[in-house]
Amino acid sequence: MNSLPMDQYKIFFLFLLLAFASYVIANDDQKKLQNYIVTLKPTDGVDISNPKTAETWHKSILSSVTNDDPELRHIYSYNKVSNGFAARLTEEDVEAMKDYPGCTRIIPADQPLQLMTTHTPHFLGLQGKNGFWRRTKNMGEGIIIGVLDSGISPGHPSFADKDMPSPPAKWKGHCDFNSTVCNNKLIGAKTMLKAGSDEKHHKPPIDTTGHGTHTASTAAGTFVNNITVLGNAMGKASGIAPRAHLAVYKVCDELGCQTPDVLKGFEEAVNDGCDVISISIAGPSVPLYSDVISVASFYAILNGVFVSAGAGNSGPNASTVANSAPWLLTVGASTMDRQIRSTVELGNGLKINGESLYQPMNWTSKMLPLVYVAGDGTNANASQCLNGTLDKKLVHGKIVVCDYGLITPNLKGAIVREAGGAGMIIANTEKEWYFTQADAHLLPASHVSSADGIKIKDYIRSTKQPIAALLFKGLVHHNKFSPSITVMSSRGPSLNTPLTLKPDIVGPGVSVLAAVPPYATPPRILGQEKYKSFYFMSGTSMATPHLGGIAALVKKSHPDWSPSAIKSAIMTTAHVTDTDGNPIVDHTQSPANVFDMGAGHVDPNKALDPGLVYDIDYKDYISYLCGLGLEDADVNNIITPAPPVECAKVKVIPEEQLNYPLIAVPIEGNTSTMAIYRTVTNVGKAAKVTYKAAITVSRGMSIEVVPSTLKFTSLNEKKTFKINFKREDGDRGAGLGAVPTNPFSFGELKWITDSYSVRSPIVLFY
Ligand SMILES: *[C@@H]1O[C@H](CO)[C@@H](O)[C@H](O)[C@H]1NC(C)=O
Ligand SMILES: *[C@@H]1O[C@H](CO)[C@@H](O)[C@H](O)[C@H]1NC(C)=O
Ligand SMILES: *[C@@H]1O[C@H](CO)[C@@H](O)[C@H](O)[C@H]1NC(C)=O
Ligand SMILES: *[C@@H]1O[C@H](CO)[C@@H](O)[C@H](O)[C@H]1NC(C)=O
Ligand SMILES: *[C@@H]1O[C@H](CO)[C@@H](O)[C@H](O)[C@H]1NC(C)=O
Ligand SMILES: *[C@@H]1O[C@H](CO)[C@@H](O)[C@H](O)[C@H]1NC(C)=O
Ligand SMILES: *[C@@H]1O[C@H](CO)[C@@H](O)[C@H](O)[C@H]1NC(C)=O
Repeated sequence: MNSLPMDQYKIFFLFLLLAFASYVIANDDQKKLQNYIVTLKPTDGVDISNPKTAETWHKSILSSVTNDDPELRHIYSYNKVSNGFAARLTEEDVEAMKDYPGCTRIIPADQPLQLMTTHTPHFLGLQGKNGFWRRTKNMGEGIIIGVLDSGISPGHPSFADKDMPSPPAKWKGHCDFNSTVCNNKLIGAKTMLKAGSDEKHHKPPIDTTGHGTHTASTAAGTFVNNITVLGNAMGKASGIAPRAHLAVYKVCDELGCQTPDVLKGFEEAVNDGCDVISISIAGPSVPLYSDVISVASFYAILNGVFVSAGAGNSGPNASTVANSAPWLLTVGASTMDRQIRSTVELGNGLKINGESLYQPMNWTSKMLPLVYVAGDGTNANASQCLNGTLDKKLVHGKIVVCDYGLITPNLKGAIVREAGGAGMIIANTEKEWYFTQADAHLLPASHVSSADGIKIKDYIRSTKQPIAALLFKGLVHHNKFSPSITVMSSRGPSLNTPLTLKPDIVGPGVSVLAAVPPYATPPRILGQEKYKSFYFMSGTSMATPHLGGIAALVKKSHPDWSPSAIKSAIMTTAHVTDTDGNPIVDHTQSPANVFDMGAGHVDPNKALDPGLVYDIDYKDYISYLCGLGLEDADVNNIITPAPPVECAKVKVIPEEQLNYPLIAVPIEGNTSTMAIYRTVTNVGKAAKVTYKAAITVSRGMSIEVVPSTLKFTSLNEKKTFKINFKREDGDRGAGLGAVPTNPFSFGELKWITDSYSVRSPIVLFY
């Protein structure tokens, strides 16, 4: 989805449809076929390592349980990402399947997941004389990034293969387009839409939403010069790893992403030989065993494939984060320091900076009458400028203030223009706070924050004849408060695994400029930049491929690092201050915490050389899963194709003791002490090096790091340390045993040398 408004409306719309559909099914038709994912026990005697054997076995199960032709019911067999299959079943079949002895779960799979909708490389410090690309001579050469999304726009110049080498020998994928479309940049393209219909499944993986083209070009688009968007010169565009190869897996269409397709997409991407997978898809927060992205990506991790996944666009409320398995890099969205500025000057002299992509050429900046039709704001429809609420006599020749929401800003512009308005101000409500974006408005306009909207409305109320001018300033850099965490970015802690702190990191996700198919641009733009269509989209969807691209660069420099080591490198080097050196703020312009931004904002230059990493072996994840108390069958389905385990015989790792680069500490009782263990690996430049611990926590704790210095004598040497937390009630101010008013306390641990500072945020849960 390309913007906050579309996101909200589409999801809402879809929700209504689904609710209606299940109502009809429940009442009218017990025989209706619905999609399910069926998981099975590892079965002796059936060797599912051969996909054909697995499929034959699954079809025989289907045939005996449903008494129907299995070809009509079978969707996919999985033998790597999961031990099971996707099939179309009636409610009766589901009952019968429950009695099948090898069956462990029957997970409904009709609720689609959602897509979460170039200046960027410059903002991240990749370009320029001392930038990453020049300094390291690393643009992701030889690395393959797999993008699970809505397909790709064939022939877009971002996917041209000038200067691209052939794919590495390990590449096993293929291209469902004809040969003229795929090349050394776009080396693979597959459609995985069987869960919807077989007809769709056999269509080429053409992007029908714009989303897949945007995310793929953000990760690995090649250089395209002289980009202009609606007359605004935007310079050169490229992805983060412009020399990496791309493989796209179309697992979504306009209606969303079906879970059986997503599961299959992962299996194909890993089998084909991708090094990094970027997936800008999220569902609601669900238990790990039924979370297809978490289940499928374990197979990726087993094969050393890094996975970057979106945190979701359900912020800013707490515990909205999706994709929270610890082996994923969970990515939130932040703003950039660029605006296409449109300034509102009020009659009282106040100047307010807003945004508009449409920068009219011959617009007079003279003062015009200003009106907020809703007056006191109680008529919600008029405050939103819905069609029919604008009195032509009242708005003619004026600048009209419209609140953000319900319909898109572009449609509001059409309504204002139709009613004779001369200009428009889109004012955020409290829901959007400081989130503004540059839209291709149909008339001179400016999108301003909720705080600025209040100032404008206060001014209108304060005077009989309010006036304002709109001043167009074009592209402006060095905004205050950049980066900041955007309102839509989903927040932690995760409901299912709270002590695995999430999100992990934030990256650019607001007004990201990248490739789009011509039809995904707004009407005003269509036709103007037909051959080089680039457009802005916002969402954690846009942040995710930035991190996928950065992981590709780290992997290129450190081919032997595990996905967890790459993840740790990205996280412990993240920065928590903005471009002015102040703490990064959230959507309310208050300092952001680890639940908003995880480790902080990604810094690719530092991620290449983190000094120490918190590495995690796949076996540790298995001990962690057992520690969560999952049933053996569910653990075994997640870890497939690793050999099955019995949790009773596994030495479990409690959630907070997993060797994660973020530290969560559960504090219980009045005199609680808690010891947290971690192990770091020396991956720095020097074999002999001594790190000193620096630790802070915001209140009421005595803390001790043991040992407080780590002396390494060789590269790749590991050292384990312990942090003792002891609750000191005397420090708490509220008296012995008082319940803290805030259930969280924040802090950080840094391992420091002259060259490195390896940072882990800490959260104490009371
Ligand atoms: C190849 O695919 C492209 C895009 O789908 C299409 O425009 C072109 O006509 C196709 N060429 C052949 C030879 O089928
Ligand atoms: C494109 O950009 C290059 C370098 O920035 C410049 O020399 C050239 O004139 C530009 N071409 C067009 C058509 O604007
Ligand atoms: C978010 O939190 C606010 C305040 O706590 C609450 O009023 C609102 O309903 C929540 N929104 C959602 C979508 O849960
Ligand atoms: C300038 O304004 C005139 C009339 O208002 C319009 O027809 C013309 O397209 C505008 N020119 C530009 C470059 O926007
Ligand atoms: C507001 O608009 C909605 C739909 O556009 C309509 O159903 C409702 O009656 C309107 N409310 C008022 C107060 O006009
Ligand atoms: C507003 O409503 C009128 C009457 O239904 C319709 O003709 C017009 O196209 C609508 N305007 C917009 C911008 O949708
Ligand atoms: C903590 O101490 C207070 C005051 O002594 C007591 O009321 C409370 O029950 C204690 N809580 C626990 C969990 O021990």
